[in-house]
Amino acid sequence: MTVYSRIIGWGKYVPQRVLTNADLEKMVETSDAWIRSRTGIQERRIVDDPDESTATLATRAARRALAKANVDPDNLDLIIVASSTPDYSFPATACLVQDALGASHAGAYDLSAACSGFVYGLAMAHGQIVAGLAKTILVIGAETLSRITDWSDRNTCVLFGDGAGAVVVQASDQPGGLLSAVLGSDGSGADLLIVPASGTRYPTTMKTVANGDHYIKMAGREVFRFAVRVMANATREVVQKAGLTLEDVDWIIPHQANVRIIQASVVRQLKFPADRVYMNLDRYGNTSTASIPIALVEAIEEGKLKAGDHIVFVGFGGGLTWAAALLQWGVKTPKPPLPWQKRIGLTMHYQLALLRSFLRRWRRKVIGFLFGSPDTETTTEKVSAHVDKLGDKVGDHVAKVSSKVYKKVESDKTTDTEQERKSQH
Ligand code: ACO
Repeated sequence: MTVYSRIIGWGKYVPQRVLTNADLEKMVETSDAWIRSRTGIQERRIVDDPDESTATLATRAARRALAKANVDPDNLDLIIVASSTPDYSFPATACLVQDALGASHAGAYDLSAACSGFVYGLAMAHGQIVAGLAKTILVIGAETLSRITDWSDRNTCVLFGDGAGAVVVQASDQPGGLLSAVLGSDGSGADLLIVPASGTRYPTTMKTVANGDHYIKMAGREVFRFAVRVMANATREVVQKAGLTLEDVDWIIPHQANVRIIQASVVRQLKFPADRVYMNLDRYGNTSTASIPIALVEAIEEGKLKAGDHIVFVGFGGGLTWAAALLQWGVKTPKPPLPWQKRIGLTMHYQLALLRSFLRRWRRKVIGFLFGSPDTETTTEKVSAHVDKLGDKVGDHVAKVSSKVYKKVESDKTTDTEQERKSQH
């Protein structure tokens, strides 16, 4: 039986704080007119709470996507977080998201392909699903670019914003979902878009910090030229690979970097109708890996996508990298909101996940303090393994009860509708 991978849930989260072009005028020598005419950006969202990070933005978007998909976190097999601004070099931000979601059966890893990362992530999820290695995967694009932006460099600081977008991808026997993907890279352009220091080539020192080498550096014009070329080529290629033509494509959702790049590539070079290219970069700027999923969520919320539509996601970024994916949209939108019982069940699940994470941390501390050597399996470890299992069981139980309640509500609704239909006849 052929297996397909379909997007069944979606969610976005952007920080509350809006940074407008007028705000930037007070920070660097720039103007609203220049930023609008050269990029199309009017404002962007920026985290201003020190406790917010890529993992917290990703978790919020993920919770919304899971609720939309009506998938319990325990049923996730894998979590992929694409990001250029992970919380740490390691552990992976995906692991922090896994912990916050209480996704106790999921593997988790980060994916680094700059702004192309979300489309790379979708392709990876598709591969896992068609290979039979996973059934349900969360793919997230999330960034806090404001933390690696040099707010005194007008060449870059006007471009970027923070945010996160997530989708739940699931195996299906219904044809559709991801039909083709194109992934590309050209490392000879690595220096064109780079955070030079804080990796192993140039570890952080007083000098790298003084030079601002831990911030984004970009050769804007070169990146622009590269972007226009690859966005058009990758779109052509992905459409061809799916056995379709550009006329079959209903929507292009491009990486939201610069309105001029989008116009020069997909609109002018491919002659694709501008009103079928989804754009929201005026409100969010370039949110790197998050830009395509945030745009997808807004396109859905605005009722633009219909079941059966062919959609191209296409992006480019540091690396240099580029990526495109062609999907046949399969979900009838809008989806009904989750019933309150299910929402309460999920909230309880997330509170329990926090509690479980807290208990696990303390258990490790107590064992380390009491027994020191990790070589011998102690009674305490045996006891704590039981506590772990008990915690997992409680979590599973809550998930099962909430999904039973949900199913009951759904079947009551169906019975009510049937009775209504009968009484009308
Ligand atoms: N305000 C006012 N003037 C500015 C600003 C600013 N914010 N930024 C640059 N300028 C000036 C420049 O200094 C230059 O002045 P000069 O001619 O006296 O030297 C002039 O404006 C024109 O500069 P250009 O670089 O030619 O401007 P351009 O039209 O190329 O626009 C931009 C610059 C917006 C950066 C564009 O090149 C671009 O969008 N490049 C692609 C960037 C991108 O998408 N990067 C993200 C990739 S995704 C990822 O992986 C994160």
